[in-house]
Amino acid sequence: MLPDAAAAKARIAIFISGGGTNMAALLYASRLSDCPYEIALVASNRPDAAGLTLAEAEGIATFSHPHLGMERADHDAVMEHAARDAGAEYIVLAGYMRILSEEFVTRWAGRIVNIHPSLLPKYKGLDTHARAIAAGDSHGGATVHLVTPELDSGAILQQLKVAILPGDTAHALAERVKLAEHQLYPRALASYLSRGSDPEWLLEQVRRRAMALPEVEERPSHGAPGWRVGGKSGKYFAYFSDRHHGEEAIALLVKTSGVDEMTSLVESDPASFYRPAFYGASGWVGLVLNRRELDWAQVDYWLERSWRAVAPKRLTRLIDVAKEF
Ligand code: GRF
Repeated sequence: MLPDAAAAKARIAIFISGGGTNMAALLYASRLSDCPYEIALVASNRPDAAGLTLAEAEGIATFSHPHLGMERADHDAVMEHAARDAGAEYIVLAGYMRILSEEFVTRWAGRIVNIHPSLLPKYKGLDTHARAIAAGDSHGGATVHLVTPELDSGAILQQLKVAILPGDTAHALAERVKLAEHQLYPRALASYLSRGSDPEWLLEQVRRRAMALPEVEERPSHGAPGWRVGGKSGKYFAYFSDRHHGEEAIALLVKTSGVDEMTSLVESDPASFYRPAFYGASGWVGLVLNRRELDWAQVDYWLERSWRAVAPKRLTRLIDVAKEF
């Protein structure tokens, strides 16, 4: 069996500072079938955070450490240590009222997520609801985004709009936005964590990488996306296979030096490689994309190698020269 990214659940640590209603929404969602994450830890900078009591009662490991009197980086390190100890692969901020140090955020790049109570990029920071009302906006809302060193500025994963009513107060709007947040956060997180088994997302990643090589064009071949180099009489160097021919893998098919190399790759690392139907006979290998430990550098390596195998000399020379500088 080839491992599927969806097979094992991602372990998350949730950081909170207060009531933890978003944490609760994430927790109960995690107990529904098919949820792609499980909660390894709920941690707080406030030992009295109400959310800790709830998490504990629900049988989730908790941790707290007050930040008072500590340097930011030192407190971050304590929290990070607890998250790693619990085996967390992702950090999920849910009303965590601390700005994290740049080093911390960089270490967790792509693996730290936040929910913010506005339609970003509008109203970063605090008092979002009052600002939306004062501006006469028709809607407030919530945004789930990746965390980067710049406050509330990382890539947006999903948003949900909430209508502002005549005479709305910041408090009343905040309450309704919370209802929306509780729907949004578990879903946005689930779809982000499942992206590694989503054929559309995988194709987009492969396409961007393949098209970045010189003189490449995309052309479907037998219904599968494929990439060729060398113009009119160009040759294919890669195909995207979404469980073609009854195979289990979503894969990138690339050229090896021949059947011997393909066979030895499959034998030495059967979780990553397989012999694709039809193409295997001429030395192509399937590189499995829907697996948890996928290393995109390996995808880049194989795309370039396969491209080199069929690209005209004038192009391979070009890329060699470019690499020298
Ligand atoms: C939410 O409004 C969230 O958007 C913001 O902090 C609040 C946390 O509320 N980041 P709760 O602790 O989840 O109830």
